[in-house]
Amino acid sequence: MALVIAGGRVVTAADDFIADVLVDGERIAMIGANLSDRADSVIDATGAYVLPGGVDPHTHIEGGFVHTPVRDDFTSGTVAAVCGGTTTVVNFCPQAQGQPFSDLLSEWHRRLGASPPVADVGFHVSVVDLSVGGLAELVAAGVPSFKLFMAYKGRMMVDDETLFATMQIAAGCGALVMVHAENGGAIEVLIGEALARGDTSPIWHSRTRPPELEGEATARAIDLARLAGCPLYVVHVSCCEALEPVVRGRTAGWEVWAETCTQYLFTDESMLERPDFEGAKFVFTPPPRTEVDRRRLWDALAAGTLSVVSTDHVPYAWDEHKTLSRNDFSKIPNGAPGIEDRLAMLHHFGVGERRISLGKLVALTATQPAKLFGLYPKKGTVAVGGDADLVVFDPSATRTISAAMQRSKSDYNLYEGTSVTGAPRDVLVRGQLVVRDGELIAEPGVGTFLPRAPFAPSRHGGAVGGAPEQ
Ligand code: URP
Ligand code: ZN
Ligand code: ZN
Repeated sequence: MALVIAGGRVVTAADDFIADVLVDGERIAMIGANLSDRADSVIDATGAYVLPGGVDPHTHIEGGFVHTPVRDDFTSGTVAAVCGGTTTVVNFCPQAQGQPFSDLLSEWHRRLGASPPVADVGFHVSVVDLSVGGLAELVAAGVPSFKLFMAYKGRMMVDDETLFATMQIAAGCGALVMVHAENGGAIEVLIGEALARGDTSPIWHSRTRPPELEGEATARAIDLARLAGCPLYVVHVSCCEALEPVVRGRTAGWEVWAETCTQYLFTDESMLERPDFEGAKFVFTPPPRTEVDRRRLWDALAAGTLSVVSTDHVPYAWDEHKTLSRNDFSKIPNGAPGIEDRLAMLHHFGVGERRISLGKLVALTATQPAKLFGLYPKKGTVAVGGDADLVVFDPSATRTISAAMQRSKSDYNLYEGTSVTGAPRDVLVRGQLVVRDGELIAEPGVGTFLPRAPFAPSRHGGAVGGAPEQ
């Protein structure tokens, strides 16, 4: 069955042109003029953009983070993803102390089988215990990215020994190391002092995780990765202090990349002070920062210092999870939902307000994550032979973001009440129409596990400084 998306404005990280896109089976078969005669069905994309499906490389769907279960399983989380224009997610699989990596992988394949996705799903492992051995073998199993937490002491945090040893393993086996960069030890001291003083409200989440401690850990991780000879990806950069070492490393041509997340572009610290404990909705880590940081993040996206915008989707519920601890900010589960809103928020406030170009939007949300995480050119662009993961995006559709309308099972939305122009209209995952006119039409199971290729510097133009920006 062939299908044509006709007359749309095809936008990739590099090109922008009007064309028909012929989809045959799971792949893009032709891009050109007047292809409708070759198809069994036609989607008219006149006046719309045809974008590559988004790739979100930072999600916490299914299971939970630390001890708190999340609301979305792979089915509901990926339904939310595709409705927001994301057709691939790379999700974290957290290792328990002593758990062999092969068992961890089997566990997460089981979980994926139990809640079949509608988007394709890759895995990263979050490493806490190297003593079990066998980490390098994950690369051959299609999992070439190892995440380490430099914070959350007593839970997911690793010491520098484990961090550096993992980096050495990654250097030898073609894996990308990802770090949550905050100085977890110093944060514990600040939390203890705040609680001892009786400072227990959500704003203290931010005040005990100051930007200096994100900057310190980011610089430390970059220096350790350089010494170990492994490529490094810094997740959820939130502030100027963390941007600085990233700029330093990238300017020097080191193998370092970094992302920010949608929420750091649109929230600030004052939101933690919202009345009636609503501030707890903004308890995510690193915390929301300042207007100055937001401006610097936008500049860094435009300049190519930051390579990706992910969501760090953690589908906690306000009522069930965030209110668990009203008298101790340090026990409020960390994280917020957002998988559905990335493209619309970046299109409206990024492209619409001329902070980034349309091509840059595609680069940040699809092409660059696909390249960094071993998926390109199968994913992340519109090209003959690539997977037909496509988004027909209506740039003039308007809507107001609201938890009541979202597909994620989380019950709140960080951007509640925000009006945006531009929305995904039709979405294909490997040639199958999963969203039509904004409505989900696919059954669970369209998506599948996505083995990824080892990290390859050549995908990023050899040495690294400014690559892979387009
Ligand atoms: O607050 C957050 N971001 N929770 C999820 C875990 C993490 O740190 O990425
Ligand atoms: Zn994190
Ligand atoms: Zn995260």
